[in-house]
Amino acid sequence: MADKDQTGHTAVTSRHMIPPPEKHEVMPNPEELLLNAEDAPPILEKLCIFPFDWRVETPRLMEIYHNSRDPGWSPAQLDWDSLDVEGMTLDQRYAISYWFALLSVFDASGPAVFARAMIHAYETHEEDAIRKCFFSVTRDEMNHEEVCGKAITLLTPNGPLGHDPQTPLGKLAKNNIEWLYHNGARYWKGYKTAVEHYPMPILFSSFLFGEVASSTLFHSMYQNTTIPVFKEAFKNIGRDEGRHLSFCLALLKEVLPKLNEEEKMTITKQFRAGFIFLSGILYEPPAEFWNLPPTFLPAQRMLEDVARTAGFGILDLEERKANWRTAVVRLKTIVEPHGIKFPALPEIGVDGEDVAFDADKIVPIF
Ligand SMILES: [Fe+2]
Ligand SMILES: [Fe+2]
Repeated sequence: MADKDQTGHTAVTSRHMIPPPEKHEVMPNPEELLLNAEDAPPILEKLCIFPFDWRVETPRLMEIYHNSRDPGWSPAQLDWDSLDVEGMTLDQRYAISYWFALLSVFDASGPAVFARAMIHAYETHEEDAIRKCFFSVTRDEMNHEEVCGKAITLLTPNGPLGHDPQTPLGKLAKNNIEWLYHNGARYWKGYKTAVEHYPMPILFSSFLFGEVASSTLFHSMYQNTTIPVFKEAFKNIGRDEGRHLSFCLALLKEVLPKLNEEEKMTITKQFRAGFIFLSGILYEPPAEFWNLPPTFLPAQRMLEDVARTAGFGILDLEERKANWRTAVVRLKTIVEPHGIKFPALPEIGVDGEDVAFDADKIVPIF
């Protein structure tokens, strides 16, 4: 009840307020309180990060996570001052910057792709070790993204799309990058659905393909590049990718033997999808996914030739084919003992199952 005070204002009485405890009031003991405790309300939300637990089902994953806390390098501490931009022709700058823009489709999308996988792992209550390993990969991918950005902005300030190239090859490079990002956007759209669609063993098999591809690529780039700052960056990124590969192998060793035939077949299909997507950088982009204009490949080949003249270690087409094949055969020997059939990859001369390709469900990432 509201009372009027002496000034005529309405004063709020203490009727709705919790009175302070009386000095003489005796606090209940825990047993008494427990008798009156209500059952907790259920969490009805599907895909919710609550409640938490910290169970570890794959100790090896946790061990790799602990070892990854210090990645042992930082993009900011690379010797970027040693990069002799002035000593390069405009086309050499455009060409190397172009390659990093191509890489960025795979490696600069890494932070967002793995962050999304990490949130998904929280929402589906995966073991702590899986959540932690996604976090670790997200952090590493942020470093790889930083290298893409640093190289591009040093060679083509405001690049890759915000600069105004001065040569025909530079203009072709910019046009190619616009097309690459158009395809990257298509990948991202599919990934967002795919990541929620597949259980962890299938996601990890797809990630495995990405990590096999990336560790192979960076190893070759490290070996063939003579520009010191890039050589050093490729060495470090390659080591990170090798660790991501270990994460995938540690989990898959546990889960692959438990899969049913349908799940195994899904992995076979995912490998074909991974091959098509990753060929965009490991080899050349197959038309099954990559929507590109007729000028794309001739322009890319010219840019690669020019980048090589500056000491940038892009393998030629035949070397790329052999390298990609070695990587894929490596993957094949990992999964086949678990009864997972490998897809036919006629592009690089690998026999296997003929499987359909679904462009909307591509998962692999670097
Ligand atoms: Fe990466
Ligand atoms: Fe990776």
